[in-house]
Parts: sequence; C-alpha cells; structure tokens
Amino acid sequence: MNNAEIIAKSKAFLMNTYARAPMALVRGQGARVWDADGKEYLDFLGGIAVNVLGHCHPRVVEAISQQAKQLIHCSNLYHIEPQVKLAEILVRHSFADKVFFCNSGAEANEGAIKLARKWAKSARGPESYEIVTTLRSFHGRTLATLAATGQTKYHEGFEPLPPGFVYVPFNDLEAVEAAVGPQTAGVMVEPVQGEGGVHPADPEYLRGLRRICDQQGLALIFDEVQTGMGRCGTLFAYQAYRVEPDVMTLAKGLGGGVAIGAILTTDRFAQTFGPGSHGSTFGGNPLVTAAAVATLTTILEERLHQNAQRVGEYLRMRLEGIRHNNPVVREVRGRGLMLALELTVPCKDAVESCRQAGLLVNCTEGNVLRLLPPLNIDVQLIDEALAILERVLAETAAQVAVQ
Ligand SMILES: Cc1ncc(COP(=O)(O)O)c(C=O)c1O
Repeated sequence: MNNAEIIAKSKAFLMNTYARAPMALVRGQGARVWDADGKEYLDFLGGIAVNVLGHCHPRVVEAISQQAKQLIHCSNLYHIEPQVKLAEILVRHSFADKVFFCNSGAEANEGAIKLARKWAKSARGPESYEIVTTLRSFHGRTLATLAATGQTKYHEGFEPLPPGFVYVPFNDLEAVEAAVGPQTAGVMVEPVQGEGGVHPADPEYLRGLRRICDQQGLALIFDEVQTGMGRCGTLFAYQAYRVEPDVMTLAKGLGGGVAIGAILTTDRFAQTFGPGSHGSTFGGNPLVTAAAVATLTTILEERLHQNAQRVGEYLRMRLEGIRHNNPVVREVRGRGLMLALELTVPCKDAVESCRQAGLLVNCTEGNVLRLLPPLNIDVQLIDEALAILERVLAETAAQVAVQ
C-alpha cells in the first residue's frame, strides 16, 4: 500500500486519537526511516524517545528473532530467563534491589502509585494515600496516571478522576513542603519534564525532595519513562543529579522499540507487594525482555549514555547558535539528547516544514520543538538534521517578520 491508501484505511478503521502526520512509515534503519511512498527521513523523534539504538538495531533484531523461535510468551506464573537477566542488569546498574515488569509507562506509573499507597498505609498509617505531583507533569493516560498528570487539558471530559493527587509548581520546594501532611504517601516527579515542554529539575530541587521525603517518611518516585535509558547522558537521569529515589519507573527506551515498562525499587519498598498484590499478563514476557536485555547491554557496552552526553553537548551548542541568530527561538532546554527549542510562535508549521524537508521532530506544549535522536547518533547526522532545522526556522522568522 502507498501513503494515501494507508491513510485512507487509517481514517476508516482507527479511532481518531492522534493528530497524525500525512504519511505512513514502513521501514527504518539506524536514524533513518522511509514512508510508504519511498521518501526518506532523518528520525529525530525516535518513536518519542523509544528508539534509543535507532531503528532495527542488529542486536535487538537478533535477540527478538532468536527468542521468537524459542518462546514468545508463557506467563508470570513461571520463572522467565530473559526477565531475570534483565532484572539483574537493571539492579546492578541502579539504586534498586527489585524490579517489576509491565508493558508501558502509564502501567509502570500506575504500579508505582499502588506501591507507594500500600507502603504508606503500613509505614505511615491508613490515612496516607495522596501523591504530590507537579504542574506540567505527564505520567500517562490511564485514569490514575491521568489524575497524577498536572495538566488540566488532559483531564477534561474524564472526570471524576480518582482522588489522591495534589499538584504543586515544578522546581518549587516550598510548595511541596506546604502540600505534605498526614494524608501524603509520596512525591512523584520527572527529573526532566518531557511532555510538559522539556523542563529539567534544578539539582537543589531533587535534593530537597529527597530531604523532605526522608524527614517525613514519604516515598520519592522518579518517573524516568522518558529520561531513563541513557537519554539524559547518564543511564538514568537521577544519577547525574546524585539523588536516589525510592521508586523509579521506566518504559520507552527500555526495550529498544518493543512494549515494556518497569518499576524499580528498594527491598524496603518491594516487600510491600506479595503474591497477588499486583500483576500483568504480558509484563516482562520472554520476547520483550530478550529485546530489552539486548538494548541495555548494547547501551552499557558501547557507553551510549556517554555518547548522548557528548553529542548532546554538541547539539546543544549548535542549537544555542541557532537561537543566537534567530529571533523566533526563545530558549534551548534539556539534558543529554533530550533537547528542545522553545519558540516565540507555535511550532506546528515548523514541524511540518521539517517533515516535508525530510526531518522528523515534534512539538510539545504548542511552542516547544523537541529533539530525541537515537543515543548512538553521530555529529554528521546532527549536522544534516540541523541544516534542515536551521533553514526551516529561518523561514519561520522571515514569515513572522512580515506579519
Ligand atoms: C514521563 C512520562 N511518563 C509516562 C508516560 C506514559 O508512557 P506510555 O505512553 O508508555 O504509557 C510518558 C509518555 O510520554 C512520559 O513521557
């Protein structure tokens, strides 16, 4: 099928939940993808921070192919070899002692919320269930994670949302202190807010949250669904901040393209859950955990988080150069290879012009143009992408000037 045929069927048979670009991707290799009409693109969105190794990385393809011949799915009623291998690597490279696997970021956060509530009920008392989250946060689309998300635009029409969430401004410790009480079970934040416009936490903020949670006996949850897996220049973003959470959620990049999520925590918290407390039919099945083992070992062996840091610094410097010369670029933000340009105008048209010129990027919060290239990207591909971006933004500035 060509683009037009796929788009026609998409409109006919799919629920209309995404503002999709008018093309269908059919093939990917490294940082490049091709649509159904054969047009080539540089992919600087990477499935929204999922394709950390680029598309169809040979080690991930091999792991999936081998595992698919052996065992695709059994059940968590049995032990699963790739699942325990993945858990061991995650534990050895993080603060955590134990892992629970699920299928998505929202499911990981939903489980983290359940864990914090159950833990707090026994550690703090039956009235402790509330989770403090931040304005502009994004934690998922299930009812509880939607309620945890501090953005009313996502809530509208779905009320009543589950109770037990209170929102405070991001990077504001006093607001957290004021929000905490006997009803509080924990605090949940993204170390860099992603969907909310790529806003990094101040180091003092995360340190302060750790102190408040220690003093008050609260669970500190880091949602690293987007920031984790090397994206921000360390394997997990908390490592650069040198602040360890009690609970961390992962998804997106963990499987290098397959659907997987995880909750990582310490023994102190993990013991809250026993058989029957929580579960997931597909969570951590042999196929996805084999893909994730291949992804994670590749990141670690090739030190791709360090590449993200190094190339990220170069990309950031070049973006600062664009900002310096272009009045529609207000600010450059982010960490590692999770970077964004805040524009003075909506970025929808610029994103579409980039797409037409062969570069995939996206827009959050209306005017924040986000770049999430693969962690193994090199400077030549960055230059290729920036040549397009710079030209498109110069056109945007020229249009703004004549208005
Ligand atoms: C920080 C964060 N948490 C949770 C989610 C939800 O993940 P999923 O779409 O896999 O449910 C996202 C998705 O963008 C995210 O960025």
